[in-house]
Amino acid sequence: MNVIFLGPPGAGKGTQAVRVCERLGIPQISTGDILRRAIKEQTPTGLAAKAYIDKGELVPDSVVIDIVRERLAAKDCENGYILDGFPRTVPQAQALATFAKIDAVIDIEVSDEKLTERLSGRRVCLSCGGTYHVSRLNGSTTCEKCGAGLIQRYDDKAETVLSRLKVYHAQTAPLIDFYAEQGLLRTVDGSQPMDDCFSAILSALGEAK
Ligand code: AP5
Ligand code: MG
Repeated sequence: MNVIFLGPPGAGKGTQAVRVCERLGIPQISTGDILRRAIKEQTPTGLAAKAYIDKGELVPDSVVIDIVRERLAAKDCENGYILDGFPRTVPQAQALATFAKIDAVIDIEVSDEKLTERLSGRRVCLSCGGTYHVSRLNGSTTCEKCGAGLIQRYDDKAETVLSRLKVYHAQTAPLIDFYAEQGLLRTVDGSQPMDDCFSAILSALGEAK
């Protein structure tokens, strides 16, 4: 099954993609994670992408389209995948349609107010990418899964979060209608507890829990 997780920054795309991918035995393809890895490794793509990400803007379409086209050609995508954070513009969605057949688009909906609270409290593991919220860490600064240190993502600063939300509404939200018109859209309430959100996604995908 080839699935897109659509939704604003902080909706829980990454959190849920990890769990759903584990359940279905398919890879999670997060363009945000790929770009952050490229920045860490100081590749030409990473160096070019950093300025956009730090400002909360989108990286140019041509860059992310090439990344995803190449990634989807890998053997582990043969039995399906979840695209987490791609496409994010209509041109990206149009390009994707030329090299992939999408079976379902899960739109995870959360209010802007809640998103701001989630992102400002998010902490991520430097080593394995585990994602937490400070309210559930009880003062711990290390990853429950691997013990490495937790950090705040640079683009989770308050002013950058505001610009990411603006960019989402202007450039990514139009994809909701784009995929609804194709009959692929399934909407899930992302403000419910994580386990309920997980069950809702599985049933939207037609997989009994
Ligand atoms: P990306 O990394 O994709 O960031 P994003 O879309 O802004 O989404 P996030 O990762 O911030 O949120 P999420 O939905 O994954 O939420 P999470 O599960 O972490 O992209 C970063 C940047 O890269 C972009 O700004 C852009 O510059 C660039 N980029 C990436 N893709 C691109 C593309 N296609 N085109 C152009 N540029 C691109 O959860 C958030 C928090 O909430 C966590 O603390 C979590 O613990 C908590 N939480 C999750 N679910 C729940 C719940 N149900 N209840 C309570 N808390 C919850
Ligand atoms: Mg994410």
